[in-house]
Amino acid sequence: MSRKNVRWCDDATLSKDINGKVYIVTGANSGVGLETTRQLVKQGGHVVMACRRVEAGEEEARSFAGLKGSFEVMKMDLAHLQSVRDFVDAFLKRHDRLDGLMCNAGLVVMGNSARYTQDGLEETIAVSFFGHFLLTELLLDVIKKSAPSRIGMVSSVVHAGSPANRPQVHLDDLNYKNRKYNAFAAYAEAKVASVLYAMELGERLKGSGVTAASIHPGWARSNFGGNGLLMKAMRVLTFPLRPFLTDSNEESAQTSLHVLLSDDAPNHSGAYFSQSSVLYRDKNCRDGGWPMDSPNPNAKDMETAKKLMAISSEIVGLEQPRTESGES
Ligand SMILES: NC(=O)c1ccc[n+]([C@@H]2O[C@H](COP(=O)([O-])OP(=O)(O)OC[C@H]3O[C@@H](n4cnc5c(N)ncnc54)[C@H](OP(=O)(O)O)[C@@H]3O)[C@@H](O)[C@H]2O)c1
Repeated sequence: MSRKNVRWCDDATLSKDINGKVYIVTGANSGVGLETTRQLVKQGGHVVMACRRVEAGEEEARSFAGLKGSFEVMKMDLAHLQSVRDFVDAFLKRHDRLDGLMCNAGLVVMGNSARYTQDGLEETIAVSFFGHFLLTELLLDVIKKSAPSRIGMVSSVVHAGSPANRPQVHLDDLNYKNRKYNAFAAYAEAKVASVLYAMELGERLKGSGVTAASIHPGWARSNFGGNGLLMKAMRVLTFPLRPFLTDSNEESAQTSLHVLLSDDAPNHSGAYFSQSSVLYRDKNCRDGGWPMDSPNPNAKDMETAKKLMAISSEIVGLEQPRTESGES
């Protein structure tokens, strides 16, 4: 059973022949990433499934047997910056093109205390944003060489907050070193960062043939949140209403597929694309939009986006993001 107003890609998008094109999908072994991957392989693409658990990726990928395209599973743990660098080195040894990058993986570290990665980063933002930031910046040359090409950042409705409380990035303390940790706030902040990054990439890559977008996939019946007590309780409580509120993983993959494959998405580089979603606190946003205007002004401020890129470059050990003219 499907919600009434789910957005689906049109037939032209879902029947495009993408034979010969190469894609990377992070978190491709589960939920939205798995279904995004399945459709790309179905349409003839080659998908590099970037997974922290290679065996889980290989297990899931067995279900792709008989599809037109191809895939490979490669190890990448977004919580470890060196793992991201190793992944990029290995990818570039095997491939000389990248037509689409979908930064899909994400998690929320539940509880009242922050968890830190071995790089000293708060794990929710490390996985959802810093790891993807490093990955994208390291792959930009091959993405540009493959233009027209596309980049997607999976964000969340949560980035929008409510009229009374709009999440924002705390540029002075992105890693919760001097604030009390709050799991939902940390997740929302990481997802604001993803929206800002796509917007900044849209501007930085103007004229290069590379386009970028951020995405809310919908309320997916995925493995998100794991099997902790809170998530289990939420699943039980919402069980009778799930078909009316939530989306299958295939439905939740539609916005990512629209961003990667549709003819129209490149006309809106830098924009936010959203599945319809009952989770928006602003009622007027609930129909979603491809693209749609985020109700959160903190996710649309280019000056903040540029500062975030500069600070993030330092945090992940990169030079400042380069402009199209090569200046830093
Ligand atoms: N579910 C929703 O309703 C919803 C709503 C809005 C946005 N989103 C976003 O949608 C995206 C996909 O989530 P989903 O719903 O499909 O959840 P999911 O089924 O839990 O998939 C998340 C994926 O991220 C991977 N991942 C987690 N930590 C990682 C790390 N350190 N390195 C590499 N990969 C890592 C997971 O790998 P493992 O299997 O190894 O854990 C898994 O493959 C996420 O960015 C999420 O924030 C989801």
